[in-house]
Amino acid sequence: MPGAGASAGAGAGREAGEAALAGERIRSRVIGREREVELALAAVSAGRDLLLEGPPGTSKTTILKAITQEWGIPMFFIEGNADLTPAKLVGHHNPAQVLREDYSAENFVPGPLVDAMQQGGFLYIEELNRAPEDTMNTLLMAMGDRAISVPRVGRIEALPTFRVVASMNPYDNIGTARLSQSIHDRLNRIVIGYQDAEAEARIVRLRAGLGADPGAEPGADPGADPATLGERIVGDAVATTRATRTHPDVRQGSSVRGAIDTAMIAERLAELRGIDAPGDERYPELFYDAMTVGLSGRIHVDEAVETTPERVLREIWEDRFILQPSAAAPG
Ligand SMILES: Nc1ncnc2c1ncn2[C@@H]1O[C@H](COP(=O)(O)OP(=O)(O)OP(=O)(O)O)[C@@H](O)[C@H]1O
Ligand SMILES: [Mg+2]
Repeated sequence: MPGAGASAGAGAGREAGEAALAGERIRSRVIGREREVELALAAVSAGRDLLLEGPPGTSKTTILKAITQEWGIPMFFIEGNADLTPAKLVGHHNPAQVLREDYSAENFVPGPLVDAMQQGGFLYIEELNRAPEDTMNTLLMAMGDRAISVPRVGRIEALPTFRVVASMNPYDNIGTARLSQSIHDRLNRIVIGYQDAEAEARIVRLRAGLGADPGAEPGADPGADPATLGERIVGDAVATTRATRTHPDVRQGSSVRGAIDTAMIAERLAELRGIDAPGDERYPELFYDAMTVGLSGRIHVDEAVETTPERVLREIWEDRFILQPSAAAPG
């Protein structure tokens, strides 16, 4: 854990070179995303709380994990939804013990907010905009005061590395407008979009263990051999997944998670069907089957259009494998 780098109002007394080295180590755990990692690191090491706004699968958790691992502090996850009451966030008294012993600090079971404050960790709230108003207000107080008062427990002070990091999906039905002005005014914001195709291919190679040295550092791309089945699968998985995001009948397409799973499923199907060359004539059919499993549940079609995820995938597949087969051809 860093000394100054993690404390509120950091910087003083800390060598710039040391901060740069830590930044370097954090970047090596994340593929691409140099700018987002740098901005997020600057915000949290300045002692600030943060909102990461971006669609699913765009490295938000990956970036925060890299930072908390480098700092050696815990991260507490919590999902923002209508059931997230202030008591769930803060903690509660164990009812059985309360009956026997009455209320005390000893029978208080801390919630993720109190855990994060006492252990100096990051409290990571996904889909913050879905949390009820009173829960957000509790959070605002903890952020503002870096302390909270818990009835029958007392005042709980946060360690200096405590941060609130929230995430939000801009395509969320519930909308981002639901966040009150007072929340917005207390959070710094980084907008994150989808990775580019090259970064997505590196992520798929790493996570699916295809075409890359599994022991390689996430930051290092081994330069995959385009003539292998594995590399054809990676290219097709990334291209078809990306096509789900721009298809006119789709409200929200698949994240890179769909590409990772499609690639892994395609690789297993190839084994099951005894296919090991990228030019095998059975490959296009195999890849279509993998797409239906890996992608059909991950795309949300526009309700106003009469179509299905399967039909959208068929169109995407035809576009890549029949209309422009040169794009999909090996090599
Ligand atoms: N930059 C990256 N480097 C390495 N792996 C990544 C990167 N981005 C995403 N991944 C991989 O893709 C998957 C999704 O990434 P991640 O969990 O960071 O997304 P997220 O933005 O937190 O998504 P959500 O909003 O759904 O929580 C993970 O399996 C992760 O390993
Ligand atoms: Mg996440």
